[in-house]
Amino acid sequence: MKERLEALRKEALEQLQGVADAAVLNDLRVQYLGKKGQLTEILRGMGSLSAEERPVIGQVGNDVRAAIEAVIAEKQEGFDRAATAHRLQAETIDVTLPGKAVSMGSVHPLTKVTQEIEDIFIGMGYTVAEGPEVETDFFNFEALNLPKNHPARDMQDSFYITDEILLRTQTSPVQIRTMKAMNGKTPVKVICPGRVYRRDDDDATHSFMFHQIEGLVIGPNIRMSDLKGTLLQFVQEMYGPQMQIRLRPSFFPFTEPSAEVDVTCAQCGGSGCRMCKHTGWIEILGCGMVHPKVLEHGGYDPAEVTGFAFGMGVERIALLKYGIDDIRHFYANDTKFLSQFAKM
Ligand code: DAH
Repeated sequence: MKERLEALRKEALEQLQGVADAAVLNDLRVQYLGKKGQLTEILRGMGSLSAEERPVIGQVGNDVRAAIEAVIAEKQEGFDRAATAHRLQAETIDVTLPGKAVSMGSVHPLTKVTQEIEDIFIGMGYTVAEGPEVETDFFNFEALNLPKNHPARDMQDSFYITDEILLRTQTSPVQIRTMKAMNGKTPVKVICPGRVYRRDDDDATHSFMFHQIEGLVIGPNIRMSDLKGTLLQFVQEMYGPQMQIRLRPSFFPFTEPSAEVDVTCAQCGGSGCRMCKHTGWIEILGCGMVHPKVLEHGGYDPAEVTGFAFGMGVERIALLKYGIDDIRHFYANDTKFLSQFAKM
């Protein structure tokens, strides 16, 4: 029996030597040391031994078991270590790789300029009013002293939806809406930003949709000098204190007298260049004293109050401010263009 045990030890240790993975190791453990394994099988014969032989063989049996167990444990530890090393290798994170950049959006330059203009006028005590982009012929034209068949309607080719409804061609209808909402009260002091639509062919300076900001002030004794002072203040806050304005007589049906306002050319500082066609001035807005008929349409008595109004194109103000040469950049949604304004 002792020989059989020694033979088993030899065979088991040889077998275990070459084992290369944990599953085979476990199979061998069961095969040699399991409840129905070979060692148990041999030791089952102990019953037929003499009382003197039994402890001796028992001792040998224990030694064989211990020897096999020791080799299995050592092998197992090796496998565990290799598995851990493998996992660490597989899960390695290369902290030197570049990260995924999250790109930040930025405020659109037209929004930015609109907010700047709003801030300047809010600083002068104005409030901001809005009106609908789908407007009635009455508010867009009639109430602004542009009756049907008035030749000045040709200046603003319109998108009509029905005979009486159109996409507003200007923010001026918000003047009438504001006056009606004020119900004859003074002072009225609002600016009205928003989109307007005209049947123009798009090019570097025209777009079928663009943005305007309207201004309206009504009260007792509002004079043209108030208008001029207000616009000078606005221009100097917007473009710099060195800027000047000049008013040229003009015509708008809703104002009398009417003027167009030029500002010092920012490009050349007034000395004359290509941008200002060598005049030193750039036109930025239309304005005038509110026409008595417009006051009446808004529910005011022209004998008691007067007012001034102005309207400017936001795109034009932005083009001049940032030196942009084509209005279409504003609508193309090209992030290369837009991102330039993120840090301004
Ligand atoms: N609504 C005019 C336009 O779109 C701009 C304008 C001119 C507005 C004079 C005014 C104004 O309020 O007084 O061409």
